[in-house]
Amino acid sequence: MCGIIGYTGKKNSVEVLIEGLKRMEYRGYDSSGIAILNDNNEIVTIKKKGEIQKLINAINDRKYPSHTGIAHTRWATHGEPNDINAHPHSDCKNEISIVHNGIVENFKSLKDYLLSKGHKFVSETDTEIIVHLIEEFAEDNDLLTAVKKALKKIKGTYGLLVISKKLPNTIIAARMGSPLVIGKSDKQMIIASDASAIISHTNQVLYLEEGEIAEITVNDINISNIFSNHITDPKFIEIDMTLEQIEKGGYEHFMLKEIYEQPESIRNTIRGRLDKTNGTIRLNGIKKYINDLKDADRIIITACGTSWHAALLGKYLIENFANIPVEVDYASEFRYRNPIVRKNTVVIAISQSGETADTIAAIYEAKRKNAIVLGICNVIGSTIARITDAGIYMHAGPEIGVASTKAFTSQVTVLLLLAILLGRKHHMSFDEGLHLIKELEKIPDKINEILNSRKYIQKLSKQLYKHTNFLYLGRGFNYPVALEGALKLKEISYIHAEGYPAAEMKHGPIALIDDNMPALVIALKDSIYEKIITNIKEIKARKGHVISIATKGDKEIGSMLKDVIYIPDTFEPMAPLLSIIPLQMISYEIAVLRKLDVDKPRNLAKSVTVE
Ligand code: M6R
Repeated sequence: MCGIIGYTGKKNSVEVLIEGLKRMEYRGYDSSGIAILNDNNEIVTIKKKGEIQKLINAINDRKYPSHTGIAHTRWATHGEPNDINAHPHSDCKNEISIVHNGIVENFKSLKDYLLSKGHKFVSETDTEIIVHLIEEFAEDNDLLTAVKKALKKIKGTYGLLVISKKLPNTIIAARMGSPLVIGKSDKQMIIASDASAIISHTNQVLYLEEGEIAEITVNDINISNIFSNHITDPKFIEIDMTLEQIEKGGYEHFMLKEIYEQPESIRNTIRGRLDKTNGTIRLNGIKKYINDLKDADRIIITACGTSWHAALLGKYLIENFANIPVEVDYASEFRYRNPIVRKNTVVIAISQSGETADTIAAIYEAKRKNAIVLGICNVIGSTIARITDAGIYMHAGPEIGVASTKAFTSQVTVLLLLAILLGRKHHMSFDEGLHLIKELEKIPDKINEILNSRKYIQKLSKQLYKHTNFLYLGRGFNYPVALEGALKLKEISYIHAEGYPAAEMKHGPIALIDDNMPALVIALKDSIYEKIITNIKEIKARKGHVISIATKGDKEIGSMLKDVIYIPDTFEPMAPLLSIIPLQMISYEIAVLRKLDVDKPRNLAKSVTVE
């Protein structure tokens, strides 16, 4: 939620900042802005409502030679998206400028204080108080001390970048609850919310830790703690991310690219983790805690959105294979409802970005209750990866499309691996473990087979895209898939869709069925096939339009329904890795037919770093 970037170095800062903003546009896209120190050492600020192209158009009219600057792409919290509320924000004298990713919770009282001191505000944002606080403390102090003093007054979260005309060629960066990565290369430093904005310049990065502040110049970086002043040695590491991974690579949208990457991303998730000799799984990241998991009275999995749907599947998988009770909690609920965490409870947090504010808060709450907390994350070095006791990386590669696709299948794959490992530690036989492992290896090829049916899915989507309500139904392992399918349609097509356990339909939603309400039903040849066929008949009897995801070779369903997407057969617990693919594809095609911005759906942002 919001992307920030700062640059100081030999290149024209405007070009570097704009390129970085474009790479981080998925983090927020309702407005953007840039503030640079020009050759006359004045701060020049340009801000525009709307997508980054509008900012680029505004900048293109003029020339801005500059080697230091900051920029921001916004997902609005305080104040509607407009030119004034867009960042950067400046102090009364336009001598200091800041960009901020986060929330100032006590901004009202601080604003009253600053107004009483004569400060003038122009925007409705919480961020603007930070720059005026810095201005207030800068009167008698150097900038670094002033920023520290200001941040000590703030309750909330920040990834913050500050420039000042009194300190040319310097950027101050501070972090509390919102990520900041610093990239270093020959005579230049780039600071950004995520590494995607840095990778085209360097792969040498340093992740700022919680509570740290850095004073950054072209050649130097000094890091200290905001509260204790403790000094830390800067340690840069090499990150394993390529430019190719974060570009569209010929696809029309990132979402489509990421849907098509799933065979490869799942291969990467399982790579090196299958132990065929012992019919089990190797998860080195959580080795130290595997017995705590095995002996847990209860596992709680907490997450948000798509990750929550994966968590629900995790419950089905772990309970099925390892016989350990699993509870699944929305992170936003867990953090506020005084959850019961006993001595033998292990908490697992799932997050693609590793930066979701609600999930982070749930982790802290679990830790306050002395639970072991494990993480399942995609973004290496993210906050959740760092604050959990141990974890399992998904290795899905960067996911840029706001609608999560390959992250979901990698999360489910990780949970499958964990469930098999725990199963083997309990009563699962070597043969069963090996059998599952061998089938898991076949999943990427089976996904490829489904991806080949794009033409048929496009044809089907043409029949569907004008409808305004959809039902998604599934049972057993495919119930969480129904929820995820419905979420995909909602978020990128803005169509109302509800996911339901198919048998629950008769307890209410069946009243909605008519010929205007398409029902997407996952009806695979599994242990509950006959039951779901009955549910399909119930819909058809009420003139509902059923589109089914069915098992290849199923003649019965073919004789009942006109619209069937066939997927290859697999073991029942692995079926979600296949059944979700056509649902992702349908959502994508419908959004394209509705001429919507698939990668940047309205009102959303990729990582939700506010409550
Ligand atoms: O990064 P996280 O996995 O923690 O994100 C959680 C949700 O915000 C995320 O899954 C969201 O629901 C996606 N837009 C779904 O496609």
